[in-house]
Amino acid sequence: MRFTVLKFGGTSVSTAARWATIGDVVAARRGAGLLPVVVCSALSGVSNELSAAVDAIAAGAGDPDAVVASLSRRHASLARELGVDPAVCTAEIDALLRVLRGATLLCEAGPKVRARVMAAGELLSTRLGAAFLAARGLAVPWLDVREILVAEESAGEARHFLSATCGFARDPAAIARLSGDVDGWLTQGFIARDRGGATVLLGRGGSDTSAAYLAARLGAEACEIWTDVPGMFTANPRQIPGARLLRALEVEEAQEIAAAGAKVLHPRCLAPVKAARIPLLVKCTEHPHLEGTRVSPDAAGGSAQVKAIAVRTGLVLVSLETLGMWQQVGFLADAFSVFKAHDFSIDLVSTSETNVTVTLDPSANAIGPGALDALEAALRPVCTPAIVQGVASISLVGRGIRGILHQLAPVLRLFEEQRVYLVSQAANDLNLTLVVDQEQVDRLVVELHGLLFAGKAKDATLGPTWAELFAPAPQAPNRKRAKREGAWWAAERDALLALADRPRFVLHGPTLDRAAEAIQRLSSVEAVFYAVKANPHPALLARFAAAGLGFECVSPGEVAAVRAATPTDRLLYTPNFAARSEVAAALGAGLRFTLDNLHPVEQWPELFRGADLHVRLDPGRGRGHHAHVRTAGATSKFGISPEQLPALREALAACGARVVGLHAHVGSGILQPETWAETASFLAEAAELFPEVEVLDLGGGLGVPARPGQRPLDLEALDAALTAVRRAWPRYALWLEPGRWLVSEAGVLLARVTQLKRKGDLTYVGVETGMNSLIRPALYGAFHDIVNLTRLDEPLEMVANVVGPICETGDTLGFSRRLPATREGDVLLIAHTGAYGRSMSSWYNLRDPAEEVLLG
Ligand code: LLP
Repeated sequence: MRFTVLKFGGTSVSTAARWATIGDVVAARRGAGLLPVVVCSALSGVSNELSAAVDAIAAGAGDPDAVVASLSRRHASLARELGVDPAVCTAEIDALLRVLRGATLLCEAGPKVRARVMAAGELLSTRLGAAFLAARGLAVPWLDVREILVAEESAGEARHFLSATCGFARDPAAIARLSGDVDGWLTQGFIARDRGGATVLLGRGGSDTSAAYLAARLGAEACEIWTDVPGMFTANPRQIPGARLLRALEVEEAQEIAAAGAKVLHPRCLAPVKAARIPLLVKCTEHPHLEGTRVSPDAAGGSAQVKAIAVRTGLVLVSLETLGMWQQVGFLADAFSVFKAHDFSIDLVSTSETNVTVTLDPSANAIGPGALDALEAALRPVCTPAIVQGVASISLVGRGIRGILHQLAPVLRLFEEQRVYLVSQAANDLNLTLVVDQEQVDRLVVELHGLLFAGKAKDATLGPTWAELFAPAPQAPNRKRAKREGAWWAAERDALLALADRPRFVLHGPTLDRAAEAIQRLSSVEAVFYAVKANPHPALLARFAAAGLGFECVSPGEVAAVRAATPTDRLLYTPNFAARSEVAAALGAGLRFTLDNLHPVEQWPELFRGADLHVRLDPGRGRGHHAHVRTAGATSKFGISPEQLPALREALAACGARVVGLHAHVGSGILQPETWAETASFLAEAAELFPEVEVLDLGGGLGVPARPGQRPLDLEALDAALTAVRRAWPRYALWLEPGRWLVSEAGVLLARVTQLKRKGDLTYVGVETGMNSLIRPALYGAFHDIVNLTRLDEPLEMVANVVGPICETGDTLGFSRRLPATREGDVLLIAHTGAYGRSMSSWYNLRDPAEEVLLG
C-alpha cells in the first residue's frame, strides 16, 4: 500500500469551502493510486479556548457548562455549513463536559487534565470532517490516532503530557491496520497516548509533527502540510510582498528557516521525514493549485546560495565579560552551568578572549519577571554579566554560506551603521546570523531582501513573488488596477498616446499642483524648499515658485535655473565638495549657504567674513532606499560630524561668521515617518553650541511607494512627530527639502516596443530607450511599474524583462513584468519617473535620452 499523509491546520478545517478542498485533494490522491491519511488540527481558536478553560479551572473560576456550550455552538454551526448532523459531535462533547466538570469540582488543572481537555479540539474537528467526507461519497473512516501514536517515556509530568515525543521507525502493525479497502483515513493531529493509555499532547506545532510521525511510520510517499500560506518564502511575505516562493529546499535548510523564525512549519516535524527519507510538501488550502514548496530529503547539490532571511525578535542578549578566561580551563563550563541551573536554553554563542556573548530565545525559555535578575546575580561570581533585552536576530539561511561570504559584502554593508551585538556563523554552515537592535529589524530586512533577491530570475529554487501570486487581481488589466490606485495616467491615456511618437517623459501639471499643496499643509513645517535636482524642468519650477515653494540647489546650474524668479530668502545653496570659486561666487551673491566641511572655513576664511551660514551635520546613520542614496554615517561623504563642532565654532568665530541654521539630510526614499523628528532632535541638541541658530533644516528624503504592497509615507504621522519636536524646542523653525515626494508620481516615461525576443526561459520586450533615459533600475535596482498603455484593457498574459537598446546587460527597466500580449509598436508606460528620471539621463551610446514635456 502506498500511503500519503496530508495535514490540514486550523484555518484549513474551519469552513465548508476548505473541507470541499480537502475532499478534492483526497479524491485526487486516491485517483493517483495513493491511500491518503488526513491529519487535522482543531478549528482555529478552539485550542486556545480549551487552554483558557483549564487556566480558569486552575484559577478557581472554571465554568464547564459555558465552555462546552460555546464549543458546541461553534461545531454545530460548522456542521450545518457542511450539511452534516451536529449529533456526530455529541459523544465527544459529552466526554469533554464530564472531564471539565470533574476537574472543576476537584480544582484539578494539571498537565494530565490539560492534555485530555485540549485533545477535544482535534477529536471534534475530525468527527465533523469524517461525516462530511462520507456524505461526499468518500470511504474515509474516522481513526483515533492514539491507536497508532504511542509516546515515549519522558521525564517530568509537564513534558510527558504536554510535549511528548513518539518514535518514528517504520511500523508494520500500523501499515497492516490501515491497509484496508478504503479511500483514506481521517485522524487527529497534536495528540497521542502514553503507555498507560492516557492522552498526551505533542507540544507546539504538534499537528505538523503528528503528520511527520505518521508518514515515517507508514513509509509514506510524501508528507503534505496544507496550511494558509502557499509555501516557504525568502522572507515573511506579509512584511515583504516581494518575498519569493522557495520552490525547493533541502530538509536541513527548511529546518534552519523554521528554527530561525519562519512560522510555516514547526522545526520538530522535519526530523522524522528526514530519517525516513520522505519528501515534505507545503501547500495552501485556499489556493490548492499553487505549486508550494518541496522539501527534499536529498541534497540538491546546487551551488551555495542564500535562500531566506529569517528573523526572531524579543531575544535577550547576555554578555559575560571576564579577564579570567584567557587560557583558563572551565570558564565556559562554569558559566553555562549557571544557565542550566536557571533552566535557560542558550541559542547563539560568540566567544572572544575576554568575553562570551549568548542569546536566549523567549520561545524556548520561559523568561518570567525576575528570571533575568536571578540569572544575572548567579553569573556575577563567575564573570561580569550584562543583559540587553529587545534585540533581534537576522539570519541569512542557505547551504554552504561560508563559501559565498565574499558575495555577501554589499549585503553586509547594510549593517555598517548598526550596533551589531553578535555575529554567528552556524557550525552546520547553514546560516549567518547578526543580532541587532530590534527597532532596526523591519527596515534592515526590507533592504537586505532587496539586495539579495530583487530582480533575480526565476529558477528551480526561486519562484514567483508573493505579490505576483496574490496581487489583488492578478489577471486584472492595467487600467482597472491603475484606476483603483488613482493613477492620473489612466485618465490621460489618449493624450499620452498622442505624445508617444518618440520616447518622452511626460509630467502631469495637476498632480504636481496637488503635491505642492499637500506638502504645504504640514502645520509643523515653516518652509518647504523643493530639491531642484529631482527634476529641474523649467515649467515645473515656475509652477512650484507660483505655489509658494522655495528651492534647494546644489550647483551653480541649479541656482541659475531658479534665481531670476526666486527671492534670495527662498533659495538654499547646499553644495558638496564645491571648488573655492563656486563658494566664493555663492557667498559673494549673498546666497543662503550650507557649509558641509571644515576645509572651506579653515583654508578660505576670507570668504566667510561676517556671513550667516547653515551648517550640514552628519547624524551618524543614513537611511534610504539604496546604499547610494544614504547620505549620513561613517562612509558617507556628507556633513560634519558632531565631534568637529567645537573646531568649527572656533574657525567661524575667527572670521566673524554666524551659524543661523543647522541642516541634515540622511538619505532619500524614506518611508518611516519618525525619521525627520529623529533628525530634528539631533540637530536641536547640537544647536546648543550655536546660540544664533533659528532654523533646523531637516533635508528631504520623503519617499513614495514604488513596489507593489509598499505603504505610502504617513504624512500625518510625520506632522505629528514634528509637532512634538516643535513643542520641545519652540524657538526653532523647521524646514524641509523634499524632491522626490513632490514630483515622482507626476512623471511617466513613454517608449514604444521595438521588438520581442525569447531566449531560454526568458522573454524580452525591447523599447526605444533604456538606461540612457532612466538609469534608476540599473543604478539602484529601483522598481518602476510598467504597463502597456496601448493595451491597457487587455488581460495580463505574459511575463517579460523590459529592456532598452543600450549595450549593457544592466539596461533592464523591469524584470519579470506581467504584460498583456505585447506587440511591436505598442507604447509602454514606465511609472513614477517624475523624480530623478530625466535629470539623471545621459547620452550614453550617443543615444538621445527622452525629452520631457508638461501635460495640463
Ligand atoms: N536635500 C539634500 C541636501 C539632498 O541631497 C537631497 C537629495 C534632497 C534634499 C532631496 O531628496 P529627496 O526628497 O528627493 O529624496 N538619485 C536618487 C536620489 C538621490 C538624492 C540625492 N539628494 C534616486 O533616484 O533615488
